[in-house]
Amino acid sequence: MASSQLFIIFAILAISAPSILATNYVVGDGKGWTINFDYQAWARGKMFYVGDNLVFNYPKGVHNVFKVNGTGFQQCSAPLDSVPLTSGHDVISLATSGRKWYICGVAQHCAMGGQKLLITVFPSSFAPSPSPTWESSNPSWSAPAPSPTWGKEAKGKPSSLAPAPSPTWGYTG
Ligand SMILES: *[C@@H]1O[C@H](CO)[C@@H](O)[C@H](O)[C@H]1NC(C)=O
Repeated sequence: MASSQLFIIFAILAISAPSILATNYVVGDGKGWTINFDYQAWARGKMFYVGDNLVFNYPKGVHNVFKVNGTGFQQCSAPLDSVPLTSGHDVISLATSGRKWYICGVAQHCAMGGQKLLITVFPSSFAPSPSPTWESSNPSWSAPAPSPTWGKEAKGKPSSLAPAPSPTWGYTG
């Protein structure tokens, strides 16, 4: 009796804990993803962790979202073979640590409108495990767990930036 109730409680925790721990960052907050907005100022002071999500909100058809590398970010150019996100409510799971670059590929929105975002993602200290082990009488969320691969970033090349044990701060290019 009691143990089956406990099991249900743990099952609920196991399902809901990762979504509690993950943070959704709405890029640009109320302004959304648009031109003439300082996305570096928006990102400043925020701590992005593996497992968090970026949400790009914009009127569908007006903008889009390309994930690019550092060169593409500086030059406002996306690889010819890459496909942008265009839904107007694009959710990107931050699957790996390191720097991430996003630009709008419409017209001159990136080059002239500054519609570009650079963030640094830190390894999660709350890595949700796909199969948490509940045997431990004192489960610790801080235990390093193999980080599951989330979402659409999985098909991209692994970041050329290895997760740094001591993350480098700032945007030194
Ligand atoms: C960045 O992406 C471009 C394609 O847009 C590619 O040609 C270049 O080699 C990439 N640079 C790095 C450092 O991966």
